[in-house]
Amino acid sequence: MALVGFLLVLAVSAVFADEDAFVGVNIGTELSDMPHPTQVVALLKAQAIRHVRLYNADRGMLLALANTGIQVAITVPNEQLLGIGQSNATAANWISQNVVAHFPATNITTISVGSEVLTSLPNVAPVLVNALKYIQSALVASNLDRQIKVSTPLASSIILDSFPPSQAFFNRTWTPVLVPMLKFLQSTGSYFMLNVYPYFDYMQSNGVIPLDYALFKPLAPNKEAVDANTNLHYANVFDAMVDAAYFAMADLNITNVPVMVTESGWPSKGDSNEPDATLDNANTYNSNLIRHVLNKTGTPKHPGIAVSTYIYELYNEDMKPGPLSEKNWGLFNPNGVPVYILHLTASGSVLANDTANQTYCAAKEGADAKMLQAALDWACGPGKVDCAALLQGQACYEPDTVFAHATYAFDTYYHQMGRTPGSCDFNGVATITTTNPSHGSCIFPGSSDRNGSLLNSTIPAMDSRSSSSSSKFFYINAFSAANIAISALWIAIML
Ligand SMILES: *[C@@H]1O[C@H](CO)[C@@H](O)[C@H](O)[C@H]1NC(C)=O
Ligand SMILES: *[C@@H]1O[C@H](CO)[C@@H](O)[C@H](O)[C@H]1NC(C)=O
Ligand SMILES: *[C@@H]1O[C@H](CO)[C@@H](O)[C@H](O)[C@H]1NC(C)=O
Ligand SMILES: *[C@@H]1O[C@H](CO)[C@@H](O)[C@H](O)[C@H]1NC(C)=O
Ligand SMILES: *[C@@H]1O[C@H](CO)[C@@H](O)[C@H](O)[C@H]1NC(C)=O
Ligand SMILES: *[C@@H]1O[C@H](CO)[C@@H](O)[C@H](O)[C@H]1NC(C)=O
Ligand SMILES: *[C@@H]1O[C@H](CO)[C@@H](O)[C@H](O)[C@H]1NC(C)=O
Ligand SMILES: *[C@@H]1O[C@H](CO)[C@@H](O)[C@H](O)[C@H]1NC(C)=O
Ligand SMILES: *[C@@H]1O[C@H](CO)[C@@H](O)[C@H](O)[C@H]1NC(C)=O
Repeated sequence: MALVGFLLVLAVSAVFADEDAFVGVNIGTELSDMPHPTQVVALLKAQAIRHVRLYNADRGMLLALANTGIQVAITVPNEQLLGIGQSNATAANWISQNVVAHFPATNITTISVGSEVLTSLPNVAPVLVNALKYIQSALVASNLDRQIKVSTPLASSIILDSFPPSQAFFNRTWTPVLVPMLKFLQSTGSYFMLNVYPYFDYMQSNGVIPLDYALFKPLAPNKEAVDANTNLHYANVFDAMVDAAYFAMADLNITNVPVMVTESGWPSKGDSNEPDATLDNANTYNSNLIRHVLNKTGTPKHPGIAVSTYIYELYNEDMKPGPLSEKNWGLFNPNGVPVYILHLTASGSVLANDTANQTYCAAKEGADAKMLQAALDWACGPGKVDCAALLQGQACYEPDTVFAHATYAFDTYYHQMGRTPGSCDFNGVATITTTNPSHGSCIFPGSSDRNGSLLNSTIPAMDSRSSSSSSKFFYINAFSAANIAISALWIAIML
C-alpha cells in the first residue's frame, strides 16, 4: 500500500510538478441585467482575476478578453454535444469558429466539453468520449493541442462512498464511459475536471458533517476525519472530495491524471430552509478556499500537488430557477459591487480589493474567566498561536490578566486565520473590534500590517496527532450516510 501510494505521488507530480495552482472564477450569464462584455472584463481587470471559465464560447466575451492576458476556459454547451460527438466535421467547425478565430489574442487554455453530462444529460453520455476525441483532433489539426487542454467537468455525485476517500469509486454505471475518458485525459496530458460543493454535502448530511469541516475552519485534532485505511487526516470536505476522485481513478488503474476543480463555492443567501447560505459563510468558504489553493498545500494524498480551482461564480445570477440560494453564489452584483469583501489582500493573486478595514479580535468585556482561560489555552496550544510574548519579561506580559492575555492570543489567531469572522468567536468569549489593543511595546498582529496578507501568514496546520477512535468512527459513518442522500438531491439542484 505504501509503495503504491508513493508511486502514485511520483506519477502525478512528474506530470504536473511545474504547474502553479491558480484560482479562477466562473462567469454564469443568467442575469436579467448581464453587464456588457467590456464591463465584465473591466471588473476582472480591476480585481486582478487572471483566470476565467465561460459556460459557452460567447463571441463578445472572447473578443473583450483579447489581449488582456487573462486565461480563458471555454465550454462546448451541452446542447451542442450530440452533434459534435457524432461528427468530426462539426467538431472541426466548432474549433474553427470558437477557438482558431480568437487564439492567441484571446488566451484560450482549456475547453470543457459539456458540463456534468453524465448526471444532467445521461442520454448524451454514449457520444461524450467521441466528442472529446473529435475536439482534440480538431485542435491537433490546427496545431493548438499543446496550448489547449480538453476535458469534461463531472459532478462529484458520480463518486460513490467518498469517505473514507480511499474507498471511493465511480458509479459503475459509468465505467464504460469513464475508462476511455480517463485514458483520453491521460494520453493528452489533460485534467480530470470535478465540481466540488461542500455546501451540498453539508446540507444533505442532516447535521452529520460539521459546518466547520465544510468551511475549512480548524477542527480540534480529535475531530478530524481520519481515513483508517491510509491514516490520512482530512481537515476539510474539499480535500476529502478531491482525494476521493484520485482514489476512484486509481480504482480504474489511472494514477497520473491531476484533478482540476471546475466549480466550487458557497451561496451568500438562501430561503428559510437554507439557514447556512449566509454572507459570513460564503465569505469564510471562499476566502479559505482561495488561501488553501494558492498555498499549494495539495491534498493529504498528494501534498504539494496543485489543485487549481474556479470559484462559482463571478455574478449573482438572478434568473436562475430553484431555491433562493441558486441565485446567490456570486462574488459580485451586476453593477460590479462586491456582495461581500473577501478576507484577502492584494498579493497580485486574485481579487485585488481587500477590506482595508483594520479589525482586531479581543476578549469580550465581562466574559467568564474560566472560559477565557480555556480559550487562551486552546489558542496557545492546538490553535498554534505563538504566545511567547505573554511570558514573564516579554512585551505583552503586562498587564498580567487573563483578559489581556486572551485578547493577545485571540487577535493573533484571528489574523493567522485571515480575519475570517468565525475565527473570532472562542465559544462566544471573543468579539471583533476596530480598537487597536496594542499598548506600549506590545504590538498586536494587524496593527502594523496594513497589507494583512493572508498568503503570508501562518495558518495553524491541522495536527497529525491521531484521533480518538470514537471520533474516527463517527466521521466514517457520517460520510457513508451522507453519501446516500447526496446523489439524488444533488442532480436536482445542479440542473
Ligand atoms: C478597488 O475598489 C475601488 C472602489 O471600491 C475601485 O475604485 C478600484 O478600482 C478597485 N480595484 C483596485 C485594484 O484597487
Ligand atoms: C497563455 O497562457 C499560457 C499559460 O497557460 C502562457 O504560458 C502564455 O504565455 C499565454 N499566452 C499569451 C499570449 O498570453
Ligand atoms: C477527425 O478529423 C481530424 C482532422 O480535423 C482528423 O485528423 C482525424 O483523423 C479525424 N478522425 C476521424 C475519426 O475521422
Ligand atoms: C449510478 O448512476 C445511475 C445512472 O445515473 C443511477 O441511476 C444510480 O442511482 C447511480 N447509483 C448510485 C448509487 O448513486
Ligand atoms: C486494474 O488492474 C488490475 C490489476 O492489473 C486488473 O485486475 C483490473 O481489471 C484493472 N481494472 C481496470 C478497470 O482496468
Ligand atoms: C468596515 O468596518 C465597519 C465597522 O466594523 C463596518 O461597518 C463596515 O461595513 C466595514 N467595511 C467593509 C468594507 O468591510
Ligand atoms: C505592504 O505592501 C507594500 C507594497 O507591497 C510594502 O512596501 C510594505 O512594506 C508592506 N507593509 C507591510 C507592513 O508588510
Ligand atoms: C512574507 O512577508 C515577508 C516580509 O513582510 C517577506 O520577507 C516574505 O518573503 C513573505 N513570504 C511570502 C511567502 O510571501
Ligand atoms: C500552507 O502550507 C504550509 C506548508 O506548505 C502549511 O503548513 C499550512 O498549514 C498551509 N496553510 C493552509 C491554510 O493550508
